[in-house]
Amino acid sequence: MEQRGVTLWFTGLSGAGKTTISQAVAEQLKSRGCKLEVLDGDIVRQNLTKGLGFSKEDRDENIRRIGFVAHILTRNDVIVIVSAISPYREIREEVRQRIGNFVEIFVNAPLEVCEGRDVKGLYKKARSGEIKGFTGIDDPYEPPLNPDIECRTDREELEESVTKVFNKLEELGYLP
Ligand code: PPS
Ligand code: MG
Repeated sequence: MEQRGVTLWFTGLSGAGKTTISQAVAEQLKSRGCKLEVLDGDIVRQNLTKGLGFSKEDRDENIRRIGFVAHILTRNDVIVIVSAISPYREIREEVRQRIGNFVEIFVNAPLEVCEGRDVKGLYKKARSGEIKGFTGIDDPYEPPLNPDIECRTDREELEESVTKVFNKLEELGYLP
């Protein structure tokens, strides 16, 4: 069977586990011989969206550009894995509509858990005021109302989250 393009969109707070799950999914897809690309907010912000900050306008612009690239790849039968906080519902919805073949994955862990992990030390800086406008602290995060998949990373193992994604892809007929 030919591979069909789809965008897997991982949204969630910083430290929720977007990058971790998306990398694990990418590796498994690769080992199955799938054509895929990964667009991770942290990386994309060093090139495609370099210079953008974290105001609502800049975040929306970041998401629009990521969505544009994801769209082009998706229509060329690539599996596109996006991980970006993408805190605003409206722009996520806009991107979903445009791309069509779209699976929204809510990577969900309570703020206290993300903050407790503080892998990059950014929450500490946000609390001390060194970083202003940090998602979940003094900037909004609008959780998906009806995600295709929800991964509760405080309660489930990585393997379980990855399995959920694969089951959904299978169900929707995206796995070659
Ligand atoms: S967004 O909101 O979708 O445009 O953000 P994204 O492109 O995913 O970039 C998020 C990463 O940038 C770091 N960072 C911040 N996150 C949130 N708020 C503020 N103010 C901020 N400043 C820097 C942080 O490392 C995010 O990476 P992840 O992987 O989500 O932890
Ligand atoms: Mg990340």
